[in-house]
Amino acid sequence: MPNVDNSTTAKTLADLGAGNLTEINLLFRVQRKDFDLDVSASCSDFSALENLRVKWIGRRSGVLAKITENWLKPAASELRPIVGQALNELKAHVESVLEERRRALEADFVARAGLGKEGLDLSLPGVIRPIGSHHLIRQVFQEIEDIFVSIGFSVVEGPEIETPYYNFEALNIPEFHPVRDDMDTFYLELPPLSDKNAAKTPLLLRTHTSPMQIRTMEKQKPPVRVIVPGKVYRRDNPDATHSFIFHQVEGLAVDTDITFCDFTGTIEYFVKQFFGSGVKTRFRPSYFPFTEPSVEFDVSCPFCGGSGTAAGGGSCSKCKGAAWIELFGAGMVDPAVYGFVNYDAKKVSGFAFGIGIDRLAMLKYGIDDIQVFFQNDVRFLRQFP
Ligand code: FA5
Repeated sequence: MPNVDNSTTAKTLADLGAGNLTEINLLFRVQRKDFDLDVSASCSDFSALENLRVKWIGRRSGVLAKITENWLKPAASELRPIVGQALNELKAHVESVLEERRRALEADFVARAGLGKEGLDLSLPGVIRPIGSHHLIRQVFQEIEDIFVSIGFSVVEGPEIETPYYNFEALNIPEFHPVRDDMDTFYLELPPLSDKNAAKTPLLLRTHTSPMQIRTMEKQKPPVRVIVPGKVYRRDNPDATHSFIFHQVEGLAVDTDITFCDFTGTIEYFVKQFFGSGVKTRFRPSYFPFTEPSVEFDVSCPFCGGSGTAAGGGSCSKCKGAAWIELFGAGMVDPAVYGFVNYDAKKVSGFAFGIGIDRLAMLKYGIDDIQVFFQNDVRFLRQFP
């Protein structure tokens, strides 16, 4: 009978006096029994299971590693196949029992935690994602588009990065024209041209949506009836009514028989639809190089009720005592512009307008600082769902 004690696996088979199949199998049966006892004595949680795994199949000092080292490797060559086979059987037994225990512990945990078969608790509430809404400026664009589309205009969009030709020259604003001072903008730094002799065309951020008048007429013969919503840029210092980025909607109607009455009728229709019939409006003579005659369109100040006086006395800070607020510029298309798009100025006529959307939204919704449109404060945005 081989001597089996705690240090059995530290000894060689020769030390243990095991020299035949029966004795070797007996040694392995004892190991298997020890393992089974270990499992039944302490395998009630994941950490005990891990201790057992290390004790029996740990790579360096696990029981099976020691058997390999001390029983298998030094065994006489005729005994080695017997030891190898018995070792494989013991290993398969240990691994399958440990795996079985792991699954049982997991199933037990899942059952105790009240989890479903797939580890999902179907009774938990789902992730509630907040529903977003359009920015107020986008909503105002939509309102304006709906009004103009209902009277036969279509909506087109154009590039925010423009050439000076479309932004200025083709709109009858040549270089060094004083009106360019009011529309100073941001220029883009271009990569150096490979051909040093090639003319360098500067690019700029458009200062208004009017370049789309030219791009539209270049592509389309009259009749033209379009509106152009979009972002524009100017080197203006920020204050309550100025931003260096803001929004405009351009309008353009050109045909063979468009008169100043069509123009005023269209604009007044739009303003009454947008603000309601109670609002007072007025035209003032103005100047734009690309319209002739030109007008500035104002509405009565909704903050002071068109009185020019603040509630607590003194002049209204919004209209600066003027009682009117400038809404947008407009006019009949200057015949010079038709020359840039190959329209016959003798045969066609039309009107154009450029509405500042941010100020329009401020007026309609009683907002007193244009900057809130660009700050992305959800407390502001949530007020316009
Ligand atoms: C123009 O931009 C012309 N292109 C409008 C036009 C179109 C005239 C077609 C005739 C025919 P103006 O520079 O006035 O015009 O700007 C139009 C509107 O943009 C202004 O009435 C104002 O509402 C708005 N606006 C101008 N500058 C700013 C700014 N820095 N911040 C916010 N809104 C501005």
